[in-house]
Amino acid sequence: MKNTPHVILTDIKKIYKGAGSSDVAAVNGVSLEIPHGQFLSIMGPSGSGKSTLLHIIGGLTTPTEGSVAIDGTLLNGMSDRKLTRFRRKNIGVVFQAFNLISTLTAEENIMLPILAGYQEIDATKLQRGLDELLERLQLTNRRRHYPDALSGGEQQRVAIARALLLDFASDNHGSLLLADEPTGNLDSANGEIICKLLRQLCDERHHTMVVVTHEPAVAAWTDRIVTLKDGAILSDHPNTKPGT
Ligand SMILES: Nc1ncnc2c1ncn2[C@@H]1O[C@H](COP(=O)(O)OP(=O)(O)O)[C@@H](O)[C@H]1O
Ligand SMILES: [Mg+2]
Repeated sequence: MKNTPHVILTDIKKIYKGAGSSDVAAVNGVSLEIPHGQFLSIMGPSGSGKSTLLHIIGGLTTPTEGSVAIDGTLLNGMSDRKLTRFRRKNIGVVFQAFNLISTLTAEENIMLPILAGYQEIDATKLQRGLDELLERLQLTNRRRHYPDALSGGEQQRVAIARALLLDFASDNHGSLLLADEPTGNLDSANGEIICKLLRQLCDERHHTMVVVTHEPAVAAWTDRIVTLKDGAILSDHPNTKPGT
């Protein structure tokens, strides 16, 4: 399946119905192919459709028109149950909101989704994955701190670690990971720690990564920059020297 693109979007439209004639075309005719292992950023002004497009790629929002294929599987017409199962297995999403639990330490917060979930995962691998992820996100000496003793940047890094731990500890390769403004409201030092980790995940594990951002400093880490305007692709450029 590696010779077909990881993601194929064909003529995607998402129309939100308003009162009378006030419909909003959040995405208005987007076709896009994302090869396996590519780190792609989606840029554009607020309201240009970035989040909607990311959610459509992740199967979290159904397009009004057009088709979405992930790794050769067409998401259109899948039942909700099937789609949920497909998403859990094939797509990782890094949401922006921290929502850390104040009565749990940093590492307990990171472990929570796994401990609360159904995933069968080897305890040794999990511990090793956790340790390495904490190290890469420079959280090792913060692991036993509670959220209110962490800076905003550290809290956001904990939230990122929480979103990535399952994938990380599973030694997954070639996953599809989506992130909506993962460095939103962070200073450049914190943003760089996160971008570096995402870049490493692409390079070492051949993950395909799609990141929505309005920050050129984040896009600079990616292989390709797609810019949206009014729900359509305004430009689509390769970035030949990511991370420099
Ligand atoms: N659930 C929704 N209902 C109605 N309109 C929406 C909804 N989600 C997004 N929109 C509208 O679609 C447009 C694109 O939104 P969005 O994808 O969030 O843009 P971005 O992430 O680039 O800021 C905006 O005009 C927004 O108001
Ligand atoms: Mg958005």
